[in-house]
Amino acid sequence: METIRANLSLLFIRLFVAITIGLPLNVFAVGPTVGVDVARLTSYGLSTAKRANCFGCHKWHGDGGTGYGGAATSLRETSLTREQLILVIKCGRPGTNMPYFDRQSYKNSECYDLTFEDFAGDDHNRPLQGKKYLNARQVNAVADFVIAELQGKVLTKTYCEMYFGGPTRECESIE
Ligand code: HEC
Repeated sequence: METIRANLSLLFIRLFVAITIGLPLNVFAVGPTVGVDVARLTSYGLSTAKRANCFGCHKWHGDGGTGYGGAATSLRETSLTREQLILVIKCGRPGTNMPYFDRQSYKNSECYDLTFEDFAGDDHNRPLQGKKYLNARQVNAVADFVIAELQGKVLTKTYCEMYFGGPTRECESIE
């Protein structure tokens, strides 16, 4: 009797281990599932960046340029690390047209150790507020989108069609 009970509980332990460890491993083993997740993350990053109007200044192709917002840096040529990208998105760049997107920016000291009080009477350098606030998850998604689709990459037709949601005239001339 005792051994049957012991065997039974061993069986349950094995089952438990198989389910808790085995299942997640199985999930990773299925390639397409992971691919879909990456695609979903990319589209979330893209739609968030669109809503935040990043492309209003950096342009749909990410190469920036002049126009509304002054000369915006190319996000394809940026050499910033992920941490630095996140910081720039959260805090913007005081004294330039790059706005901040974190609701708490300059209310605490997390942005370059500066608060709004430091800009009192200095309207020229006062940080500009983004069109829309982004929470941490959204900031990360936008930074990851920049890294995955723009940074260090040339403009492709695939990117163009992803951005516009399908083939458009804009994309025809791109290789
Ligand atoms: C109102 C115009 C404007 C908007 C909107 C804007 N940017 Fe910018 N951004 C700029 C300008 C101008 C600069 C250059 C700042 C400078 O001179 O250092 C810049 C710089 C940057 C940089 C620094 C690049 C580098 O290598 O130094 C990053 C990263 C960046 N922007 C990302 C974003 C993202 C992501 C968004 C949307 C969440 C966004 N920007 C929205 C105008 C804008």
